[in-house]
Order: sequence, then C-alpha cells, then structure tokens
Amino acid sequence: MPPKTSIPEFQHLLSSSSSPHTTPKILALCGAGLSAASGLPTFRGTGGLWRNHEPTSLATPTAFLKDPALVWLFYAWRKHMALNARPNNGHWALAELGRKLMMMTNADGEGGGGGAGGVGGRFLCLTQNVDGLHQRASHPESTLRLLHGSILDMRCFDCDYIQRNNLSDPICPALAPASSSSSSTSSSPLLDPSIPIPEIDISELPHCPECKTSLLRPGVVWFGEALDNDMLDEVDDWIEKEDEKIDFMLVIGTAAVVYPAAGYVGEARERGAVVVVVNPDEDAGAGLGDGDFFFRASADEVLPLLFEPIIGKPEEYVK
Ligand code: OAD
Repeated sequence: MPPKTSIPEFQHLLSSSSSPHTTPKILALCGAGLSAASGLPTFRGTGGLWRNHEPTSLATPTAFLKDPALVWLFYAWRKHMALNARPNNGHWALAELGRKLMMMTNADGEGGGGGAGGVGGRFLCLTQNVDGLHQRASHPESTLRLLHGSILDMRCFDCDYIQRNNLSDPICPALAPASSSSSSTSSSPLLDPSIPIPEIDISELPHCPECKTSLLRPGVVWFGEALDNDMLDEVDDWIEKEDEKIDFMLVIGTAAVVYPAAGYVGEARERGAVVVVVNPDEDAGAGLGDGDFFFRASADEVLPLLFEPIIGKPEEYVK
C-alpha cells in the first residue's frame, strides 16, 4: 500500500495525538528544498551545478586546501544569495509550530519548554540548511538545531577562532564578484563556466585575526567532517527522553542521503513515528509505508496547511 496523501487525514491524526493533556512529539529534518521557494538552489538535482562543479565536490576540506579562492567564491555566492532571500511560508510555519507546541507543552504541565540554551519542548527542528532563513523567520532557538552550521559564521581553518553572524557582503574586496548577481538564476560572469574565475591571491582571502597565519573558512560542516558533538548529544537526549514515543517525523525538502542527518528518520520510526515527507520529487516517497504520508508539493505551500489546526493561517503567525 502506498503512503497516504490526504491533508485532512493528516490533520485528523495530528488532532487525535493532541489533547488538553498531551502535546504531540514531533521531530523535523529539513534540507535545501525548504529554501527552494525562497529562490535558493538545492545541492542535488535540477539547477544544482555551480560553474560545472557539483556543489558537493566543493564542500570538502580537500577542495578548500586545493583551491581556497574557488571554494570561497562558491560560499560567498551562496551567502550573498541567502542574505538576499527571504524566509518563505514553510520557514514561518515551522517557527510558529515551534512556538505553539512550546506553549502547549507549558500549558499541559509536561515542562521542558526549553531552558536557557537547551533543547526543549515537544518539537525539535533539525536543519541541514546553513542559509539562516529559519532564524530570520524567528524560529524559537530552543527548538532548532543547525546540523551543518551557518554560512554566516566564519572560522579559522586551523585554530579555534570563530566569528558568528558575519553579515558582510561582499566578505572582502577580492570576493566581490560573488556578490554581483541578484538571483540564483540571473546571469553573472561568475556563474558562466566559459569565463575564467577571477584570479585571487591567497593573501587577499580572509585570514584569522587570532592566529594571524591561517585562512578563515565558512562556518559550515563539510563532507568528511564531524558534526558538533555537544549538539548531537542534545539531540540524542531529546529523542531518547523518558523513552517517549515520537509521534511524527517530518522530512522536509531533503534528499535525506547525508549522514548522520538522514539517520534520524530511522531512529524516529523505531520510536513509533509516522513519517511525513514533503517533497515534490516522486522518488522522495520511496520506502514509505502505508501508515506514512507523502505530500508531493512545495514545502512553502503544504506546511502551512498541514499544521493549520495548531498554528492557524499564515496571516495569524507571529511575524
Ligand atoms: P539536496 O539538494 O540533496 O536535496 C534537496 C531536496 O529538496 C530534493 O529532494 C528536492 O526534490 C527537494 N525540493 C526541491 N524543491 C523543493 C520544494 N519547493 N519543497 C520541498 N522540497 C523541495 O539538499 P539536502 O538534502 O539539504 O551538506 O542536502 C543535504 C546536505 O548535502 C546539505 O546540507 C549539504 C549537502 O551537500 C553539506 O554541505 C555537508
């Protein structure tokens, strides 16, 4: 039997797992598709190539060591795009869900509404996105974890220096060519693979102000690198908390092929979760069971509808 596709049926199940004394426990895993409706390119599939490069081939320490200027131009361009994009209704709906479930948790006396800096409440949104759009949609901090870091952070390639929330665009004069296009589809010399990339000397790239020797690099997790251990422990504690059931596992706009992120889907399923995939790609529904849901649509359109019984209509969200 194929997965279910009916929004009313999902809403009914959601309502039946909520009562004045219980709040559903929901885990979400988000990926680049959530930001597609904001005009940001995904990593895989249509429009995924950047100057004939697979983005995933640039997201490695080896690529940075080999050609730091190329990798910096790629990330400076993604940062420029992210700063010029706006959160869409998918981001806003998830942020509102975080707020509403936190209020419901506090009201029904289950506690865990999220203490200072900790993960709290019955909703946890794990995002692989580094674009900052969740935060700009005012997603409550205690219900959001950035699995792959943030494109707005810069850190030293060698020492522990990290600079958070750097909004400079361009990042430095040498990276200005990355800040010249106005959208991911508009033409810019940087995006035209037939035009050689500008020559940039390593001395012109951002350097660490602390050790004063090494290059700064984007504050994102690259392939082959470990995710933040403390964050992973927090997530595990939330998942395993009091051996509770997880009611829903939302898989939103992600190909769910990158680990450890993708592994959370199986963990949630083992804890009883109904898996809910939101993705326009037919293949994203592979492996779903008849108790699961597959919404083959854009996240910005479907998320507000799925959770309307809890979060109300977009015009009612706290913005
Ligand atoms: P991918 O580019 O692999 O997948 C994006 C998914 O979004 C695809 O399954 C698309 O079908 C789907 N999609 C496209 N438009 C959508 C829309 N409007 N609404 C919903 N879904 C849509 O991106 P991620 O899964 O995020 O990691 O990639 C995971 C990680 O791999 C990234 O964080 C990055 C990447 O390489 C690192 O850099 C370490």
